[in-house]
Amino acid sequence: APADVALTPPLGWNSWNSFGCGITEAAVRQAADAMVSSGMRDAGYQYVVVDDCWFDPQRDSSGNLRAHPTKFPSGMKALGDYIHSRGLKFGIYQAPNERTCAQGVGTHPGSTGSLGHEAQDAAAFASWGVDYLKYDWCSSWGTRDEQVARFTVMRDALRATGRPIVYSINPNSFHTPTGDDYDWGEVAHLWRTTEDLLDIWQNGNANSYPMGVGNVLDVTAPLAAQTGPGHWNDPDMLVVGRPGLTPTESRAHFALWALMAAPLMAGNDIRTMSAETSAVLRNRHLLAVNQDPLGAGGRRVRDDGATEVFAKPLADGSVAVGLLNRGGGPTAVTTTADQIGLTGTAFTLTDLWTGATSTTSGQISATVPAHGIAVYRVVGGSPVPSTTSRLRGAASG
Ligand code: DGJ
Repeated sequence: APADVALTPPLGWNSWNSFGCGITEAAVRQAADAMVSSGMRDAGYQYVVVDDCWFDPQRDSSGNLRAHPTKFPSGMKALGDYIHSRGLKFGIYQAPNERTCAQGVGTHPGSTGSLGHEAQDAAAFASWGVDYLKYDWCSSWGTRDEQVARFTVMRDALRATGRPIVYSINPNSFHTPTGDDYDWGEVAHLWRTTEDLLDIWQNGNANSYPMGVGNVLDVTAPLAAQTGPGHWNDPDMLVVGRPGLTPTESRAHFALWALMAAPLMAGNDIRTMSAETSAVLRNRHLLAVNQDPLGAGGRRVRDDGATEVFAKPLADGSVAVGLLNRGGGPTAVTTTADQIGLTGTAFTLTDLWTGATSTTSGQISATVPAHGIAVYRVVGGSPVPSTTSRLRGAASG
């Protein structure tokens, strides 16, 4: 995939989960404003992505894509300019078939997919200032090789524009119930691993559809080895703050996606989100874990059935650890420094929800509520500072 973008997982907002085909230019502008006023931009969120249904049902007589005349009356260049004026980046949507998904299911008229128009559409996107393309396979047609070929045509068309554009693909129709384990790293910066994530905690077994947080986690976590700088597994947009999750479940979902080094694309209506939801999305400790330059995908290092432990190595040699409780009542979840890949006899834990620190000689344990997660950054290898030296540091700092 094109170099020098998406070296850490992209952070942003996408219109689909909250607006679907009802998205309008006004709502996108308001979302961009909310990215700024909520503090999300300053926390690191960049991309404002307009998903399906932004386009006119007909191309013009020269085959050019156009903005939908009533839903996006100012046009996409003007919208991109507005997003850029807010210090953000502009994302847009298309499909490698004759129709986009919404066109395929009939919720948006026309057949204006990019098939056969790749160079023309990529050039249009670049001229509008597009920084991110979501390219969504919406057809039951084709083999894996044919699908790779079509996604590669747009990769090359984007490269040919000379503009750095993050390339986010969804090879949707190839998802078996157990998900898509193909490594798309040569083709795209990020690729969906499952069907759509809905605001459900867990739906039946791993293979059930529609998919909830636990379902998508079970498909994506085993693919950790193929994720890294410039090429990310994408377990879909966030459903943090959506009505189907409790606050505890939203926090666990966010922490797990951060630990998986997932792209974090908020899918809630950020114009009207609660202070609690906003605080989860802007958790600076978890965002730092997600954006760590090593880009390692967190691995499930322990599975005790209802409880699981995830560990994500960080560039400075520390490890982020998640103690997950998928069961129905509060329980203790335990691991050790050794199990998460650290050696030594003295470690400092930073609780990534509260910022509180504590020390351990190796045991890492917490009582975790049902559907909750405790997350820590574990630093080892050096002596834990004494109370006196901490006080001296504070006094001189
Ligand atoms: C299917 C994708 O999985 C969704 O994220 C969204 O892009 C829709 N298509 C749009 O039609």
